[in-house]
Amino acid sequence: MQTYLIKTEPHSTGLGQAQRKLDAPVGHEVHVRVHAVALNFRDLMLAEGQYRGAHDSPVIPCSDGAGEVIAIGPQVTRFKVGDRVVSAFFADWISGAPTPQNTANTLGGAVDGLLAQEVVLHEQTLVAIPAHLSWIEAATLPCAAVTAWNALFVEGRLKAGDNVLLLGTGGVSIWALQLAKAAGVHVIMTSSSDEKLQRARSLGANATVNYKHTPEWQDEVLRLTKGRGVDLVLEVGGQGTLTRSVASARMGGTVAIIGGVSGFGGEIDPVTLIGSAKRIAGILVGSRDMLEALSSFVSENAIHPVIDRVFSFDQAHEAYAYLKSGSHFGKVVIEVQ
Ligand SMILES: NC(=O)c1ccc[n+]([C@@H]2O[C@H](COP(=O)([O-])OP(=O)(O)OC[C@H]3O[C@@H](n4cnc5c(N)ncnc54)[C@H](OP(=O)(O)O)[C@@H]3O)[C@@H](O)[C@H]2O)c1
Repeated sequence: MQTYLIKTEPHSTGLGQAQRKLDAPVGHEVHVRVHAVALNFRDLMLAEGQYRGAHDSPVIPCSDGAGEVIAIGPQVTRFKVGDRVVSAFFADWISGAPTPQNTANTLGGAVDGLLAQEVVLHEQTLVAIPAHLSWIEAATLPCAAVTAWNALFVEGRLKAGDNVLLLGTGGVSIWALQLAKAAGVHVIMTSSSDEKLQRARSLGANATVNYKHTPEWQDEVLRLTKGRGVDLVLEVGGQGTLTRSVASARMGGTVAIIGGVSGFGGEIDPVTLIGSAKRIAGILVGSRDMLEALSSFVSENAIHPVIDRVFSFDQAHEAYAYLKSGSHFGKVVIEVQ
């Protein structure tokens, strides 16, 4: 079968196609024909050798994929041939708190991922797909959606009537917008583009701020919340946004630290946290239990994720370049045939 492989040594950039032969599944292994793979910012970092925890030897890239079970090992109990499944981000983090052990094996980083025509995974690394989702839609669940779920409802503990600030209109933030609105949460959203903000409002964003036109956007967030600040910020910006995100949170509020699309870094003045009793919470995607809870919520609320653009398997390089351009709104997906 045809696969992509990525070399992840420092300074290497490489996304090449290769042929691989898969052995029949044994024990708890499940053989999956992959139909769609969703890209994340992390996949760009991995391709450019900038990601911690990557494997030294070439791995199959991408954590997020959806496909159909075509064979199972003799000890498999969770799935049967024909089932529709999606991968979990961590091979071993099933439930409970993260540990160094259960978060060591990330798909598409430390161990093989999904950008291949077929993969063999342990049954514990797979979850059933919500029935109303297509392959392309389901492929977006494992990383961006679980991260948004964890930040909003696990670490962020949001409930109906609370408010959240979402930065930019990439995969995590648009998933967070859809989940937050379905849960009755008030959303303030930023973007560099008025056109994208218009789309965010059409998806339910209650208020929007263009961070290019309003560089001190935290002042606008405070104005919109009558000086109080938001209950939670999903901080995906990094060094260009961190200080403003902290300033946007209310007294006793939480800043969920997720990423660094403007560069990893930034400084937090401890006094601003102490004086207003704010909480900083690091988010590390989430467990398989969170993926299952998310999938139930997505089914109950009939949510269809926002897919910006779909590329073919042979266009993986173009898909990566498109994600890197930042022109997207929501998710970029590769269809695998
Ligand atoms: N901790 C975790 O578990 C975890 C999980 C998933 C992702 N992440 C991280 O979270 C970040 C977002 O991931 P993603 O997959 O959603 O990325 P993505 O889809 O590539 O999002 C890119 C978007 O970020 C926005 N952006 C760029 N610069 C910005 C700035 N200065 N201020 C505000 N927004 C800005 C842009 O939105 P506009 O065009 O609207 O301006 C851009 O389209 C990445 O750093 C990723 O590594 C972490």
